[in-house]
Amino acid sequence: MRIAIITETDPVETRVAASAETVKKLVALGATIAVQSGAGTQSGMTDDDFATAGATIAKTAKDALKDAEIVLKVRRPSSAEIKLIKKGALVLAIMDPYDSAEALAAMAAAGLTTFSMELMPRITRAQVMDVLSSQANLAGYRAVIDAASDYGRGMPMMMTAAGTVPAAKVFVMGAGVAGLQAIATARRLGAVVTATDVRPAAKEQVASLGAKFVAVEDEEFKQAETAAGYAKPMSAEYQAKQSELVAAHIAKQDIVITTALIPGRPAPKLVSEAMVKSMRAGSVIVDLAVERGGNVALAKAGETVMTANGVKIIGHLNVPGRVPASASALYAKNLFSFLETMIDKTTKALAINWEDELVKATNLTRDGAIVHPAFQPKA
Ligand code: NAI
Repeated sequence: MRIAIITETDPVETRVAASAETVKKLVALGATIAVQSGAGTQSGMTDDDFATAGATIAKTAKDALKDAEIVLKVRRPSSAEIKLIKKGALVLAIMDPYDSAEALAAMAAAGLTTFSMELMPRITRAQVMDVLSSQANLAGYRAVIDAASDYGRGMPMMMTAAGTVPAAKVFVMGAGVAGLQAIATARRLGAVVTATDVRPAAKEQVASLGAKFVAVEDEEFKQAETAAGYAKPMSAEYQAKQSELVAAHIAKQDIVITTALIPGRPAPKLVSEAMVKSMRAGSVIVDLAVERGGNVALAKAGETVMTANGVKIIGHLNVPGRVPASASALYAKNLFSFLETMIDKTTKALAINWEDELVKATNLTRDGAIVHPAFQPKA
């Protein structure tokens, strides 16, 4: 059982799909591991770390991938990488499968057996494999650090002989995994924190972190959570009421962090241009949903925008990758935990149970075809 880990080629990707800990564990399960030289550099993991853990270091991606039965990646393989991966090999990655029909077709055509880690069901058994949670948690943390760093004032209240610095007012929109960590981080820095969400379950979670919940709590709000725990797209009427409430609130905030997402859809627009204009100069907005269309009008993916009224809108790409060492360590553990379920401990060989609900939920392509029901090519 040969497993390859290669250097990510997307220019914004800093993470790596293995750690010394997971390499050691995979070796103990009988695997031979090849890591491309330099794959962990941006995550603070050296070739020596991987070699000490039991991996061999390959000079190039091609060398690492040669004869590999299993490939662990952060991002979906590029067309150049697909050519280097052996037919029938398993590829585990954050595949970003939505609106990616061509890329999925290419992986199918190459005969790859691919698994999309972000489709992992959120059931107790799979918590340790939940990449959305492990990465969103760090993104929420980093969003606050980025905001604090660009905010020209102090976050905590400071009473000094020369005067008082007031505590920053931070508003977090979307209180899922990223939002809750943003609330906790902002609170630790001494900010006065409020938060909003459309799911009623979020109300108590926000309160338990010491933040105030601000939301339109009507009948639609009570029904806004799907069985899977995600938000539903809200009606135009609800959005109008939400927007009115939020507009008055945002005008008084120093920092706004938006994290609102709906799986498989563009991010809901929550902060209008007028709301941005209502904020005072020096305020900072971080849009964590920017890669999915953004929650904030004027936000630009991969850019920091300074508005005419002096508000900074931060739209970093790959925010978990801005905490690369932690993000890689947790992601590697997510991958290992899933892969472990596909390996027979006695024969030390791959033994996939295709009926397992985790396998079924994440398997995108197999035997030359797209097998996932949600991503079938349109007739
Ligand atoms: P997400 O990343 O899909 O969305 C982020 C947040 O945005 C969510 O809280 C969502 O309700 C909110 N949102 C969507 N539309 C909005 C709007 N129009 N206005 C305001 N907020 C809006 O969500 P995430 O972080 O993946 O969490 C989803 C749920 O899954 C949560 O209930 C979370 O507690 C739960 N979860 C369960 C796990 C488990 O293992 N059982 C693990 C992780 C999360």
